[in-house]
Amino acid sequence: MESLINKNILLGVTGGIAAYKSAEIVRGLKKAGSSVRVVMTQSAQEFITPLTLQALSGNPVSTDLLDAEAEAAMGHIELARWADAILIAPATANTIARLSSGRADDLLSSITLAFDGPIGLAPAMNQAMWKDERTQSNIKNLENKDFSLYGPGSGEQACGDIGLGRMLEPSEIVELFASLFKAGSLSNKSVLITAGPTQEPIDPVRYVTNRSSGKMGYALAEAAVEAGAQVTLVSGPVNIKPPASCNFISVETAQEMYDAVMHHVSGKDVYIGTAAVADYSPTKVEGSKIKKDGSNESLVLEMKENQDILKTVSDKEDRPYVVGFAAETEDLLKNARKKLEKKKLDLIIANDVSDKSIGFDSEENEVTLITNSEEVLLDRSSKKKIAKRIVEFISNN
Ligand code: C5P
Repeated sequence: MESLINKNILLGVTGGIAAYKSAEIVRGLKKAGSSVRVVMTQSAQEFITPLTLQALSGNPVSTDLLDAEAEAAMGHIELARWADAILIAPATANTIARLSSGRADDLLSSITLAFDGPIGLAPAMNQAMWKDERTQSNIKNLENKDFSLYGPGSGEQACGDIGLGRMLEPSEIVELFASLFKAGSLSNKSVLITAGPTQEPIDPVRYVTNRSSGKMGYALAEAAVEAGAQVTLVSGPVNIKPPASCNFISVETAQEMYDAVMHHVSGKDVYIGTAAVADYSPTKVEGSKIKKDGSNESLVLEMKENQDILKTVSDKEDRPYVVGFAAETEDLLKNARKKLEKKKLDLIIANDVSDKSIGFDSEENEVTLITNSEEVLLDRSSKKKIAKRIVEFISNN
């Protein structure tokens, strides 16, 4: 089970009779090479003591959201940041319902809400509770949100009933959970991505910029990390958190972005230019704020053309697989194809930004992937899903 080596696993234990088996899960995860921290709900502590799980995990067990001392040591946000993945075993019907509705009224639910990596659930409950429509719809909801489900198994239950609802055996759960870390389609590949706008200063308080939220570039960085790539993300100023496990470089101007890309591009397997780089920047940056003193009715700003980062990358002799974006307002496919040729790209992603519901600041996108030999339309979907499909496409080419 090589994939669990050196992973930080947060094990959530909730209050069902199967909680006694969580001791074996901690041992299994540790044996597979992971560091384990346990978070228990209030009712879980009626079934197994925190001391047992502390001794087996070698780490303090966390139980309270509102314990100032525990929060000061490693609070819920730190725990969410620490974890590479969360496993909740057993997961009771109550916990499943609370996770499904996004509650954050205890430590475990708050951590899961603050966590943006993979989460596995091993349900355990009475067969009638499992079969109930409400549980089933909660489970469907969580699966749609990319939670992984392990079991439940079927057989005789602690309450005497027979049916689906038994928690799987600890060894099975650990093995299924390990598959979350199987080598992805871009493992052993290195990917350099640019994202966001650039800002070209006019004076100390003003700048020229492009519209770009950075959402598409960040979603691509996340999808590439999930596919196992080593990702370097060079980003202009945006308001989103970069994926935890990427090499993040923050820049402001087109020149800084150019320098950062040139510094990091050698040896990369893939380059994806999603950034809305300013094509021009002011020739001269004023040292102090330009004053409105009434003597000038108009202001002329002289601009110089910036270097095309994408073109420079694709002109390199040892070039990576080069992907560009074409954000167009008219003749989308024709203009994108022109750009593919002119910038000598391997792939261009055409994006109609005249449609307000896709592109720029929206959560969704609809794009066409164009290469020299192919044209693939990716129907409207969340930027996250589109990013996954783009990464899949790149890994197959
Ligand atoms: O020609 P246009 O700017 O529309 O091309 C868009 C593509 O080129 C995007 O992938 C963008 O990131 C990239 N680009 C660049 N450097 C520039 C301008 C655009 O890398 N100076």
